Amino acid sequence: MMMMMRRLKLVQFPAKHIAKSFRNSRASISITSMSRVQNSEVTSKKLFTPGPLGVSYETKAAMLRDLGSRDVEFIDTVKFIRSKLLDLACVTADTYTVVPVQGSGTYAVEAVLSTVVPRQGGKVLVLVSGAYGRRMTQILDYMQCDRIIIEGAEHDKTDIEAVQKCLIENPDITTVSMVHCETSSGVIHQVEKVGNAIKEIRPNVVFFVDAMSSFGGVPLHLVDAKIDFMVSSANKCIEGVPGFSFAICNLEKLKKCKGIARSLSLDIYEQYDNLEKTGQFRFTPPTHAMLAFKKALEELEQEGNIAGRSKRYKENRAVLRKGMKELGFQEFLDDTHDGYIITSYFFPKDPNFSFKAFYEKLSNLGQVIYPGKVTKADCFRIGNIGHLFPSDMEHLLKCIKDVCMEMNVKLPLK
Ligand SMILES: Cc1ncc(COP(=O)(O)O)c(C=O)c1O
Repeated sequence: MMMMMRRLKLVQFPAKHIAKSFRNSRASISITSMSRVQNSEVTSKKLFTPGPLGVSYETKAAMLRDLGSRDVEFIDTVKFIRSKLLDLACVTADTYTVVPVQGSGTYAVEAVLSTVVPRQGGKVLVLVSGAYGRRMTQILDYMQCDRIIIEGAEHDKTDIEAVQKCLIENPDITTVSMVHCETSSGVIHQVEKVGNAIKEIRPNVVFFVDAMSSFGGVPLHLVDAKIDFMVSSANKCIEGVPGFSFAICNLEKLKKCKGIARSLSLDIYEQYDNLEKTGQFRFTPPTHAMLAFKKALEELEQEGNIAGRSKRYKENRAVLRKGMKELGFQEFLDDTHDGYIITSYFFPKDPNFSFKAFYEKLSNLGQVIYPGKVTKADCFRIGNIGHLFPSDMEHLLKCIKDVCMEMNVKLPLK
């Protein structure tokens, strides 16, 4: 009982506890002893969410030092990160470049759109199938930029014929943008097919893909998919900590963007130019987050790069899928979809089910799931990505079962 109380306190007040550990120590605390404190005494909740995601202790521990932005080690860290991301996108430095952007994923989406779409005559075709496609149109509206939307159902894949028809009817379209994994539903879109279909009709149109929740966990070959600009962020499948995002840019296309940006801090051309000339960011870089990201990239390599990571995420998804099916939960997407990043489930119809109570009870057991984001159905979401393993999915399923029983929700669901 005493042990349980102590553990509960640590879960609720981890920062306080660490501070106390510091105060009580006579010698200075090294990174190793600090991580020992974390490993043994402070418990994190498991995050089955689209982000922020859980990351390894080693990745967090990599941040426990200060590094100046002009320090050679930091400049080398940035170089390493930029080069490794090119490898993961299956491209090389003679044709593509990586531009890190301070801020969350949306900053990178906004940075690309506001740097790349011409101020005069710019017109974007946005392929929308959920919340994150809609966010692109919102950004374009802030920019007061001309745009056309093709909006499909949230459970459907992109209608490629409609895209080609639209490009033929609108020869003034300069840019096509879409989301790879629409994290609001879990649909993974066939960006390779869309990219090739677009370029077949209009070879010079710029193709921009938001691969926020998929890059690093789902194979994506930028040249094969004819992608000119792609964005993702540090705290998704690469499993770094939140703090920055990045754009992977076709060099020839990026070099044409000088002077276009509507924003100083989000100008990815200037960010690129400065990094090339000085190796440094223009404004304060997220040094700690980048140290963590370097560690996360090393861990990704140890896991077998994207092939290894996607294998683990698929295993997570398989365990979840089987267990949820046995409990009677119904997926929002049908079997024609094979996305394994996140899964949306309909709310059970049982009158005793309340999502708020379900969420809170699971959270009290250290299991954090996420509300739904599809517009036409009541759903919740369970993510398979981040520092999660099949045993974590098994444990989550046990907690879901326990919580349903506690709520008098009859299992298996009808
Ligand atoms: C596909 C996609 N795009 C954009 C975003 C926005 O990223 P952020 O919340 O880091 O700004 C997310 C977040 O999960 C996402 O999944």
